[in-house]
Amino acid sequence: MSKRIQAKDVDVYYGKFKAVEEVNIDIAPRTVTAFIGPSGCGKTTFLRAINRMHEVLPGAYVEGELLLDGENVYGSGVDPVSIRSQIGMVFQRPNPFPTMSIRDNVLAGYKLNGTKLNRADSDAIVEKSLRGANLWNEVKDRLDKPGSGLSGGQQQRLCIARSVAVSPDVILMDEPCSALDPISTLAVEDLINEMKEQYTVIIVTHNMQQAARVADKTAFFNIQGIGKPGKLIEYDDTNVIFNSPSNQQTEDYVSGRFG
Ligand SMILES: Nc1ncnc2c1ncn2[C@@H]1O[C@H](COP(=O)(O)OP(=O)(O)OP(=O)(O)O)[C@@H](O)[C@H]1O
Ligand SMILES: [Mg+2]
Repeated sequence: MSKRIQAKDVDVYYGKFKAVEEVNIDIAPRTVTAFIGPSGCGKTTFLRAINRMHEVLPGAYVEGELLLDGENVYGSGVDPVSIRSQIGMVFQRPNPFPTMSIRDNVLAGYKLNGTKLNRADSDAIVEKSLRGANLWNEVKDRLDKPGSGLSGGQQQRLCIARSVAVSPDVILMDEPCSALDPISTLAVEDLINEMKEQYTVIIVTHNMQQAARVADKTAFFNIQGIGKPGKLIEYDDTNVIFNSPSNQQTEDYVSGRFG
């Protein structure tokens, strides 16, 4: 079930270094939101704060409130592992487990959280997840072959299947197409369009055309200088951000004057 993500005055630190400052954002369910902005402005850092992947680094922490349908993701007694199963993540480089079969890659989330499935249930999850990732027809006859035997674009769709297999509410994608050719990129973009019926999707991208193609809303982050924290500058409907932004920094960035 797709859920709302809200950040209230969120700061994200690596030890003493504040990498992201005062993010306030309200992301509705069943939407695709693009995070854009120059390198180093904190897109990945903020994304990883949303599902508590940030805190696995020594000294890294988050201040402020992050809410998933109104519930504090960082509340006391909240298990980060359960947060990460509700808020899935897809990385820049496809990272299937190379020696695992395609089937076991899809089921990896269940193995990790110790859920035992019988054969019928696991078959159903594998098929549903691979269909959901637009990959079923390409792999249904070789489910027991290693995931590493797929093309880059297929591997990325396999990673998407792995993240949807555990029925998350939100899917975070950090530049999911940056290692893919144009055809595979379009396949993943088509998939993102379909995914928003079931999930809240956030995608980091450096590709403005991609943001314009897939995102309902766009958030522009910027940084004022080296060593300064990144900030959310403007968040609005994608066509507003690209055609009539209200902030001059946004205008300069989307028109290619920097970054
Ligand atoms: N593990 C880390 N330890 C310390 N500082 C880090 C770490 N990871 C990132 N940073 C710093 O945090 C800031 C934000 O980095 P981040 O990776 O979030 O930027 P980004 O917007 O995703 O950039 P890009 O577009 O290049 O991926 C940068 O100054 C970066 O050097
Ligand atoms: Mg990044």
